[in-house]
Amino acid sequence: MRTEALSAIEGTSTSEELEELRVRYLGRKSDLKQALRAVRDRESGMALNAARAAIEGALEQREQELTAAADVEDTGFDPTLPGAQLTRGRLHLITQIRREVEDVFLGLGYRVFDGPEVDTVENNFTALNTPEAHPSRAASDTFYVSDDVVLRTHTSPSQIRAMLEQQPPVYLIALGRAYRRDTPDATHSPVFHQVEALAIDRGITLADLRGTMEHFSSAIFGGTREVRMRTSFFPFTEPSVEFDVSCAICDGAGCPVCKHSGWIEMGGAGVVDPAVLSGVGYDPEVWSGFAFGLGLERIAMLRHGLPDLRLLWENDVRVLSQF
Ligand code: DAH
Repeated sequence: MRTEALSAIEGTSTSEELEELRVRYLGRKSDLKQALRAVRDRESGMALNAARAAIEGALEQREQELTAAADVEDTGFDPTLPGAQLTRGRLHLITQIRREVEDVFLGLGYRVFDGPEVDTVENNFTALNTPEAHPSRAASDTFYVSDDVVLRTHTSPSQIRAMLEQQPPVYLIALGRAYRRDTPDATHSPVFHQVEALAIDRGITLADLRGTMEHFSSAIFGGTREVRMRTSFFPFTEPSVEFDVSCAICDGAGCPVCKHSGWIEMGGAGVVDPAVLSGVGYDPEVWSGFAFGLGLERIAMLRHGLPDLRLLWENDVRVLSQF
């Protein structure tokens, strides 16, 4: 009786049919009700009650299905269909890295300084001790807005602006876009992001630079990163270095990302040239400091194994949603 009732309920297509079945299987004159009235032993009673519960449940469920189907017919709205999936937004990888870098330096007591992307030739080159004939000034390398104004070619002019604005000691980072006349390829873009750090105080040395870079690199790349410095040249630092970080992918053992050297080139740095300090009115006999600058796209590529930085500019959600 139970099997018969369940398959009959399944086969109904209107509420009226369903009501007939309710009467036939659960009504006062139904076989089930009569059997229940006649039952004498506990076991049969339980079996009959279970059958009744199953039939009631099936009637209830079918009732809901038929009502929903009727709603769709009346209103065109089907409440049983899954809702529209809303995709969740997220921060661009460069924004995420920018905020991570800011957090690391805020934790060290630095402030975040915001300099303009359009700046003077004076701030971008001259005050940074860059000779008149330096190739980076050439119109083939730099976007000139006018004779005295450029799209900044690095975040270093923020150093000058900040020092002109305040007295030492100075502990700041400046992050943002920089522009160079480069043809886009896997590792170059005419627009890119840098982070600049500047620390000016009494008795600051290259050792402070190394310790700060080690802390920063470990925080961004994970684990305990070592820093290696190679002598280099920048007009605004003396001595100047380029710094490498021990590869976080292979922990220095050698892998394709570090080209089997165990080291990754990160950026430029050095001890701020006394000529830059005196140019902004700081006494180089009293104050000394370090600075460094590096690319955020480079951090992103190394940390996430991105093969091509153009992926960061195309803004294809299939790429961006992976970070
Ligand atoms: N501004 C340099 C560049 O874009 C990077 C740099 C080198 C920044 C040395 C510094 C520094 O602050 O001290 O290539």
